[in-house]
Amino acid sequence: MSAVEESRVATDAGAWLDLRGGVPAVWSRYTDLVVERGEGSWIETVEGDRFLDYTSGIGVTSTGHAHPRVSAAIADQAAHIIHAQQNILYHKPGLKLHELLPRRFPNLPAGESARLFLSNSGAEAIEASVKLAKAATRRPVVVAFRGGFHGRTHGTMALTSSGIRIRGHFEPLPGSVHHVPYPYPLRNPTGRTPEDALAFTLASLDELFATMVYPDDVAAFLVEPILGEGGYVVPPDAFLPALREIADRHGILLIVDEVQSGYGRTGRFFASEWTGITPDVVVMAKGIASGMPLSGILARGDLLDAFGPGAHGGTYGGNAVACAAAVATLEVIDDEGLVAAAERQGRRLLDGLAGLTDGRRQVADLRGRGLMVGIEFADPDTLAPRPDLAKALLHAAFERRLLLLTCGTWSQVVRIIPPLVTTDEEVDLAVKVIGEALEEIEA
Ligand SMILES: Cc1ncc(COP(=O)(O)O)c(C=O)c1O
Repeated sequence: MSAVEESRVATDAGAWLDLRGGVPAVWSRYTDLVVERGEGSWIETVEGDRFLDYTSGIGVTSTGHAHPRVSAAIADQAAHIIHAQQNILYHKPGLKLHELLPRRFPNLPAGESARLFLSNSGAEAIEASVKLAKAATRRPVVVAFRGGFHGRTHGTMALTSSGIRIRGHFEPLPGSVHHVPYPYPLRNPTGRTPEDALAFTLASLDELFATMVYPDDVAAFLVEPILGEGGYVVPPDAFLPALREIADRHGILLIVDEVQSGYGRTGRFFASEWTGITPDVVVMAKGIASGMPLSGILARGDLLDAFGPGAHGGTYGGNAVACAAAVATLEVIDDEGLVAAAERQGRRLLDGLAGLTDGRRQVADLRGRGLMVGIEFADPDTLAPRPDLAKALLHAAFERRLLLLTCGTWSQVVRIIPPLVTTDEEVDLAVKVIGEALEEIEA
């Protein structure tokens, strides 16, 4: 029997579980679950166990698993045409996205427009944004922020500083990338207020410009409006406006990486909207197509014209089925009011958790915006990160059928990323489970 035939007969749960041994460890999966199906906020395994999925596939399945409208759009598009390559053909869902998405550009001044470029993954879209900034400004340098995560290609690893496991052993990486500290009040060396943290960031930027890089050599600032993999850190409100001002002063482009914070997650379509600033480029992925591989950048005005024909592209970017999922995703987000729901449920989640974490000495911080919520564990006296507690909480929640993730440089933050469709009852259940888990680990 061929290997393919053998795998076809392995239909019972036990046989599927046996096949897991063939998967390499690089994926570092924290559960052993083999999934059969997903619906809304829930997944069901081949063994029939149900879990409340507050990972959303790392912030992807914002409309819930297998939303019927998204699944139907995928099936319908797949029956018409799957691959209508962008160098050869236009396709309907792609054209629709080019019409709809630029309208979502954050804080676009009246009378201005924006344009869209589509690719497959977050990292690819980051690559596109940086290439565009270099082409548009003819400058070589990018300034990124400590704790930022932007992907795992060589270019995006060079921009990333969220944790050693991402880029360690992979040097040399592309040069002319400089990092300055992200304003992270809890871990700011000059004081723990938001003002202290912002002042430290801005002073570090001044120092960079005084010691290593002329500002007019800088093509772009690349920044996450809320730090994702780096620990779900909400920066001071004045951070992005301050960057915008410095960027304008020196002709630097401002690229916001909204791969994790965008698409409704924080209670605004893009998290940049909370700050009132207009970026030059917005990078999107994750929630854009409810799980189909799609990403993109939105660029202000005619910036995208800095790419001449053929200057950038890729075989699969803007795949027709992925675009159909993206159009359906936008419709679901609007028709079901999911941006407002994220703000409302985020408040419910944070309020519920605040009642549980207050007074717990090892909980150094509870923070978040909308449905992007983190609990940081640290020694109360030294602030030494406590990844052991974050991991213990994850496992105690898992035992109670709740899926969560960690983040932060030392994996010391438990991150909670529910789908935007989550219900009051599910939020309350998650809060109850996290409360029990906190009791169990006695943080
Ligand atoms: C903020 C941010 N940027 C970029 C990426 C890279 O996206 P992808 O994994 O799709 O390449 C991620 C992924 O987690 C992310 O969170």
